[in-house]
Amino acid sequence: MLPDQVEKIAILGAGVMGHGIAQIASAAGYRIAVRDIKQEFLDNGLKGITKSLDYLVKRERITPEVKGEILGRIKFTLDLKEAVGDAQLVIEAIPEKMEIKHLVWKEAAELAPDDAILASNTSSLSITEIATVVPNPERFVGMHFFNPPAIMKLVEVNQGDKTSKETVDTVMALARKMSKTPVWVKKDAPGFIVNRILVTYLNEAAKLLDKFDIEQIDAAMQHKAGMPMGPFMLSDLIGLDIVHNILKTFEEHIGPEYAPHEKIIELFDSRKLGRKTGEGFYSYTERPAVTEEQAKGFDVKLLLEPFVKEAERLYTEAVATVEDIDTAMKLGANIPKGPFEMKKAGLGEEKPVLTEKENGVYKITLNRPSKLNSMTLEMLGLISEAVDEASADPEIKAILVTGAGDRAFCAGADVSQFPGLSVEEARNVSKAGHNTFKKFMETPKPVVAAVNGYALGGGNELILFCDLRIASEKARFSQPEVSLGLMTGWGGTCLLKKVVGQTVANELLLTGRRINADEAKSIGLVSHVYPAAEFEAKMNEYLQALVNGPPKAISAMKKLAASDNNLDAALDAEADAFADLWNYGELKEGIDAFNNRRKPVF
Ligand code: COA
Repeated sequence: MLPDQVEKIAILGAGVMGHGIAQIASAAGYRIAVRDIKQEFLDNGLKGITKSLDYLVKRERITPEVKGEILGRIKFTLDLKEAVGDAQLVIEAIPEKMEIKHLVWKEAAELAPDDAILASNTSSLSITEIATVVPNPERFVGMHFFNPPAIMKLVEVNQGDKTSKETVDTVMALARKMSKTPVWVKKDAPGFIVNRILVTYLNEAAKLLDKFDIEQIDAAMQHKAGMPMGPFMLSDLIGLDIVHNILKTFEEHIGPEYAPHEKIIELFDSRKLGRKTGEGFYSYTERPAVTEEQAKGFDVKLLLEPFVKEAERLYTEAVATVEDIDTAMKLGANIPKGPFEMKKAGLGEEKPVLTEKENGVYKITLNRPSKLNSMTLEMLGLISEAVDEASADPEIKAILVTGAGDRAFCAGADVSQFPGLSVEEARNVSKAGHNTFKKFMETPKPVVAAVNGYALGGGNELILFCDLRIASEKARFSQPEVSLGLMTGWGGTCLLKKVVGQTVANELLLTGRRINADEAKSIGLVSHVYPAAEFEAKMNEYLQALVNGPPKAISAMKKLAASDNNLDAALDAEADAFADLWNYGELKEGIDAFNNRRKPVF
């Protein structure tokens, strides 16, 4: 079967994975049949897809028309023959029990066309073993999507002992058509790539609990190693039953060193399974959070070393290439660097601001992608140092500021610590932003903000201090402080009106309305909008004019254009007004609402 011959896809199972896969496969233009064994399961599947599409419409990622088209291509049925009889690809996403998989596949393989590709979304069972009940197991393959499929970019394409390379290639191509990034898992290894490395790392973390606290390890891995959350919060999120069972499988199939640690067994035995039961490593009466302060005294190498070792073991066992392992871990575990990239860069703390000098350009990358590059005080300090370094370097002709990852430039100040600040500390936060961002105006080198995703709150204020602003079509801009019970504190009140005019500035500040890249261009917030796929190339092209230009003339013009005798007083007044808000309760309500994903009531 070649990728272009696929028109209809049958999905077996309408649960979280099944309906998620149906949604993205339909979005790619395929006709879809979703089959389950009870009408109630199908109804829930439809509800799930509708909810997810509504969310995308609300976040302006798709239009209401596209939502209608996606739903229109999906049929729900209880009849297996109707679903698979004319499908070129069957994807199964039913419970992870070998007996159930065998029952369903026996029947489905019989009813599906002889040349249809048969794929299992299993994350833990052997592809080779599932395939024993189908005729022609060379067309049977693993197609492992990650939860939630609509958001997670990764698909592990898992080759069983008998799967043909042609089947693997076709499924890789189909995953790409669904806008996913496939990796080729060349061997039927337990846990494939992501679960093998990640769950082993969760077990390694548990082994350190006799010397360190849960919160300390989590804080260090989140704040210093760049992980989206620490290993214990992640175990609670995945579920201790799942973590436990995967480790048992590893123990059985790979070796005794993978046996679940006694703390994991204890939680599993006492049914403290994490978020879903309200208690695991943490108790879930409220959302747990760990601070940078708590990270002290834990060296992240203690966990990064076994993490990398497991990746190396997978590579040595010829399960996947170095590139595929790195890609899988970045996309499947949402971490900034893959294990081999981490090793190359030197194991240790992940820096939240990266700098790089190339061809006369000093590039500053905001690097907390798992928190949408939201800005901490530490980052402000690092940006300050970076601008000083760029200013002093005669080789540097231009400075570029951009965001890591594919979602955000910078989603504003990191608000997680805001509620606990005193009035004076709040004023210092405001002043710290002013002092750093003013450096973009004061440096003699031209500064370009390349907005590759969200530029919200402080992220949008940062770009106002830059000399030039360009955007990817994916960029979104807003000053959402009002929705948090706050006001802008990093220059928004003074500079937005200079860039877009008083009327539009007031509207953006007082309503928090989010605008897309085209609107940002139309109001003069950015000067160019480029397609996302070409953004990097266009950005480099754009910088060339500055690199090749006359430094003295450029510097003189930039200085005069930015000069404003009243700016310091206006920024001080903004800091005072910002800090004054800590005398009232609005921001507590606003930030609590954000943390708990609810609408604030002011
Ligand atoms: N401060 C702290 N954390 C932030 C943040 C901020 N300004 N913006 C995003 N994050 C974190 C989220 O808490 C989340 O962390 P988690 O995975 O530990 O829960 C992570 O970044 C991803 O964001 P999430 O909200 O889950 O993504 P989304 O796609 O649902 O929404 C946004 C994206 C940008 C719309 C949403 O994150 C948002 O509104 N952020 C706040 C923007 C803001 O108000 N900035 C001004 C601050 S003054």
